[in-house]
Amino acid sequence: MDGQKRSFLKLKNFLIKSDLGKKQVLQLIEYSKTDPLIKKFTGDSKRFKNLDAYKNWRKNKKVIYALSDKKNNLLGLIWFSKKESSFGGYPFTFAIRTYAAARGKGLSKEFMRISFEDFVKSNLYQKDEARGVWLEVSADNTPAIKIYQDFGFKKRGKPNKNNKIMMLMTPNFRPF
Ligand SMILES: CC(C)(COP(=O)(O)OP(=O)(O)OC[C@H]1O[C@@H](n2cnc3c(N)ncnc32)[C@H](O)[C@@H]1OP(=O)(O)O)[C@@H](O)C(=O)NCCC(=O)NCCS
Repeated sequence: MDGQKRSFLKLKNFLIKSDLGKKQVLQLIEYSKTDPLIKKFTGDSKRFKNLDAYKNWRKNKKVIYALSDKKNNLLGLIWFSKKESSFGGYPFTFAIRTYAAARGKGLSKEFMRISFEDFVKSNLYQKDEARGVWLEVSADNTPAIKIYQDFGFKKRGKPNKNNKIMMLMTPNFRPF
């Protein structure tokens, strides 16, 4: 095993675990540098620039989910962070990545569903009175906006000067 804490789903060829193993961290750093979509739509080339940057990212409160194959190759990543939005009631952010080997295969919504279902049981979520979830997405990131909307996120306002739009999941969401 790769040091992961627990595995709560085994679905045919895929696993979702609540931590990243060492091999997966190295793959995360590599994909963040080389994957064109990740480079275009996320800040991961900086966020996961190297091991120190990764460790620094882990310092803030967050709940993470790693999607992998049976050989522990990283296929996707979801994380929820504690970070207030600019208005009240939305204390958590949501982020998702799927990597080339798994992308475009319809896995992302199931990955989101399982992760949300687990996240709402977490201490981080339960001990907060306000429970909305927010995210920012590039206005031209069509696949991402599609999955967010299908899942129940709603656009709020207009794209900002960096062409990012905010999307919200209301505090009483029931996406599953
Ligand atoms: C966003 C991302 C997680 C989506 O994952 P994915 O594995 O491609 O998603 P899926 O295959 O599960 O589904 C994508 C959906 O978008 C649709 N889609 C894909 N490209 C599309 C396009 N150009 N126009 C319209 N719909 C599109 C697909 O048909 C599918 O919808 P469906 O389930 O109704 O058929 C993935 O593309 C990714 O990691 N991108 C890079 C990182 C990123 O942008 N993360 C989000 C930052 S906010």
